[in-house]
Amino acid sequence: SKKQKMTAVVISQEKIAEDIYSMWLKAEPVAAEAVPGQFISMYTNDGAKLLPRPISLCEIDKEKGALRVVYRVTGEKTGTKQFSQMKAGDSLEVMGPLGNGFDLETGKEKKALLFGGGIGVPPMLELAKQLTAGYQTECQLVMGYRSETFLTKEMEANGTLYIATEDGSTGTKGNVMDAVAADSLEADVIYACGPTPMLRAIKQYAQEKGIECYISMEERMACGIGACLGCVCQSKEVDDHSHVHNKRVCKDGPVFLATEVEL
Ligand code: FAD
Ligand code: FES
Repeated sequence: SKKQKMTAVVISQEKIAEDIYSMWLKAEPVAAEAVPGQFISMYTNDGAKLLPRPISLCEIDKEKGALRVVYRVTGEKTGTKQFSQMKAGDSLEVMGPLGNGFDLETGKEKKALLFGGGIGVPPMLELAKQLTAGYQTECQLVMGYRSETFLTKEMEANGTLYIATEDGSTGTKGNVMDAVAADSLEADVIYACGPTPMLRAIKQYAQEKGIECYISMEERMACGIGACLGCVCQSKEVDDHSHVHNKRVCKDGPVFLATEVEL
C-alpha cells in the first residue's frame, strides 16, 4: 500500500466560517498519490491524544505537493481545536492518503448530482474539480448547511451550485433533498458525503429513481488503517452461511456504493 506517515508543514490556515477552518498542508508524497474522496489521518502534537483525526481531502494540488483540508472544531480541548491554532510553518504528523475514493469513471460525460452536508461539503470540491476537468461531467452541486455557508465560490467555479440551509438564510429552506425538489434536479449518477440521515434519504431517492449512487461515510474511527475494527458498518454482503459481512469504513470505504451498505 502507498499510504505513509510523514511530517507535513502548514502552508496557511484561515477561519472560513464559525468553527470552520481551512488549512493547506505541504505533504508532497501524499498529494502525489491522492484521489478525491480519500482522507488523511492528522495527529495532534499533544502526547495525551494518541488517536489521529480522519479528515477528508478538500483539494489536492499535485504541482505544489499540497493538500487542503476544511474541518470543524468540535469543542474546547479537542484535537481539531489544536489544529485550528496552528500557523504557517508549524508541522504535524499525517498519514495518507487513506481509504478508497470516489469512482470518477462512472461520472464520465454524465449528468451528476454531488451532495455535501456540513463537514461532508469539503470532499465534494476536489471531486467536482476533477469530474469537470477530466471527465466532461455536468456537475450539479447540492450543498446543505445549518446556516452559515462555506466553500461556495470554489463550488460555483466547478459546477452549478444549489444551496439548502436549515434556517433558510441562503437557498432552499430545509435539507438537500428539499433543494432537489425545489429545483427539479435530475441526474444519471449521484455522489454524496454527509451525516447518516442525509445519506439515508439520498440512498432512498437513488433507489426509487434507479440512479447509481456512491456515498462517503464519516464513521467514528480509531486506527484508520483497518486494524482495530473500530469503524465497521453493516454491509449487504451475506455469505453461504447467512453471515453478514461487515465492512471497515476506513479501509473498505469511506466511499461505498449505496446498495452495498445498511444505513
Ligand atoms: P475529540 O473529541 O478530541 O475526538 C476524540 C476522538 O474521537 C478522536 O480520536 C477522534 O478522531 C474521534 N472522533 C470523534 N468524532 C469523530 C467522527 N465524527 N469521525 C471519526 N472520528 C471521530 N470532519 C471535518 O470537519 N472535515 C472533514 O473533512 C472530515 N472528514 C472526515 C472523513 C472521514 C473518513 C471520517 C471518518 C471523519 C471525517 N470528519 C471530518 C470527522 C472528524 O474526523 C471528526 O470531527 C474529528 O475526528 C473529531 O475530532 P476532535 O479532535 O474534534 O474531537
Ligand atoms: Fe481501525 Fe477502521 S478505524 S479498522
